[in-house]
Amino acid sequence: MFENFPKDFFWGASTSSHQVEGGNDNNWTQFEKENAQLLADNASKTSFFLDENARQARKVENYISGDACDHYNLFENDIYLSNKLGLNAYRFSIEWSRIEPQKGMFDKEAIAHYKKMIRVLRAYKMEPFVTIWHWTLPKWFADQGAFQKRKNIKYFLRFVKKISLEMGQDVKYFITLNEPEVYSANSYFTGKWPPQKKGILNYSRVLNNLIIAHVGAYAIIKKENPSAMVGIAKNNNYFQVASKTFFNRVLKKIADKYWNDYFLKKISSFQDFIGLNYYFRNTIDGWYFRNKNSKTSDLGWDLYPEGIFNVLEDLKKYKKPIFITENGLADAKDRYRKWFINQTVKSIDKALEAGVDVRGYLHWSLLDNFEWAEGFWPRFGLIEVDYKTQKREFRPSALHYGKIISSFKRKKSLKTEK
Ligand code: BGC
Repeated sequence: MFENFPKDFFWGASTSSHQVEGGNDNNWTQFEKENAQLLADNASKTSFFLDENARQARKVENYISGDACDHYNLFENDIYLSNKLGLNAYRFSIEWSRIEPQKGMFDKEAIAHYKKMIRVLRAYKMEPFVTIWHWTLPKWFADQGAFQKRKNIKYFLRFVKKISLEMGQDVKYFITLNEPEVYSANSYFTGKWPPQKKGILNYSRVLNNLIIAHVGAYAIIKKENPSAMVGIAKNNNYFQVASKTFFNRVLKKIADKYWNDYFLKKISSFQDFIGLNYYFRNTIDGWYFRNKNSKTSDLGWDLYPEGIFNVLEDLKKYKKPIFITENGLADAKDRYRKWFINQTVKSIDKALEAGVDVRGYLHWSLLDNFEWAEGFWPRFGLIEVDYKTQKREFRPSALHYGKIISSFKRKKSLKTEK
């Protein structure tokens, strides 16, 4: 094992500000206040079996991010824990609503906070992967129409410039945007997330504005620091056909084109790497997705870690280095996570052997966290969090991941000694 892995491969984990920090005040906290009761009521109607998950999903407090993991205050301990596992990379995001709580007013303490995070990571010899925007918005920006309006992009770019001036010299890997399609789809097509708009036109306007936002951000960061590596985190799926009928193949082409490739093709001259977030395979069977579902996560998602090979192989055409910036599962009892990580690492090895330039794997997530409109009950963490006491505990799969990393390191150092 690891024959094909480069010596300086990054082994890490990811989080995002709103999901772990606690104490935020942004468009999501507002949405949570207004919708928690409704979401809890809906869960009571739809979940008949009173398993542990269903019980939690029925509670209003499940949907209020509140103190979350208090990562804003406990980040040093969390970084210490991840270093103890042997991780050499950590992806986190900067909370725009903290940096610029009011239009044009930048908060020095918040900036100092993220700079400190970077310093602490460097002290542990861990590489920071900094996401500039992971979905949450300052309220003033949301109120004036967010990314739905092209003229608002300049405010995002002003924020990017601030980050770049303040932190650009200390960060090598910047992720400008997290999963633009997932955001546009949930916030502007299905209406599940704030601002709960619906329709294909809204979706497409926002997505196209995010392309412009990324291209602008790319130029700004590169101007301040030409050696920075800049990309996005892209959610790509493995679209498979149930049978090779003409119709299924056409649908697969459409899905690949619009979900996997559209954004990446538009920004292909403005990215130094591709950040891949892999969670899903979708088996196309006529108008439906029919997965085998032989193993499913607590959220009922089909688990098919091997599909990461197909997605990686498909990304080879962009001729860019690839970092897996997210990959994981909701699994409170840790039944499948070990197996899932094993299969993923094997599939990455296979992709490397097939000539794909993969340079890092960052598991989602370092900690249990606030899973957006689902709330706290889905448990994605390598580290289990007790939300009442803020106690952290490694899940057995975290220790297993740690073992994988240490055997990788042993093998690579043996090789260099020879
Ligand atoms: C997002 C994360 C989310 C994870 C699990 C990704 O799409 O970037 O914020 O928690 O998936 O659903």
